Amino acid sequence: MKRVPLGILGSGKGSNCRAIFESIKSGALAAEVRVVISDVFDAPILDIAREFSVPNAYLPPGRFHTRLEPQAEADLLRMLREAGVELVVLAGFMRILKSPMLEAFTRRIVNIHPSLLPKFPGLEAWKQALVAGEKMTGCTVHYVDEQIDHGDIIAQSEVPILPNDTPESLHARIQIAEHELYPTAIGQICRKLSAG
Ligand code: GAR
Repeated sequence: MKRVPLGILGSGKGSNCRAIFESIKSGALAAEVRVVISDVFDAPILDIAREFSVPNAYLPPGRFHTRLEPQAEADLLRMLREAGVELVVLAGFMRILKSPMLEAFTRRIVNIHPSLLPKFPGLEAWKQALVAGEKMTGCTVHYVDEQIDHGDIIAQSEVPILPNDTPESLHARIQIAEHELYPTAIGQICRKLSAG
């Protein structure tokens, strides 16, 4: 089966990126990571790419905090195209993508978010769920559109909130669920893309 070429974008520790690499290595996920790109110079996600000998790059984001400067987004698009990427995977990428990227990769950008969307988009979603007194939260894989943590839902996994949970313990359990859900959901999308 065709290995779908992925580009992974992330800003942080990269545990989801590692889960994707490991799923590919084990043969469970028929994909190939062509490039890992981060808007954070020293993000651990770039070290993980190096560990797996995958091309990687730092993308200077420009002067905005929540999105890329237009030139940076144009550079990102060029890098992804040069690498032959067909599916863009956001793995803890903390900036909103705008029209050049969304138009170039329509329904070909996916994200994972640590809540049961549409509940709790935005930062530290596990903390939001805890503060709201929820009994259940989880994680969601979805197509990316122009709104934050919004777009058609591809897959979800539930994680119960325990009476003694702290934000840290809850996020740790959600991440275990993410590492299972994301490679599986990407596998489903890759099968669809390969089937044309
Ligand atoms: C993950 O929990 C992911 O769901 C979250 O960032 C974390 C990245 O962890 N993403 C968002 O909150 C997007 N709004 P990782 O760097 O270890 O993969």
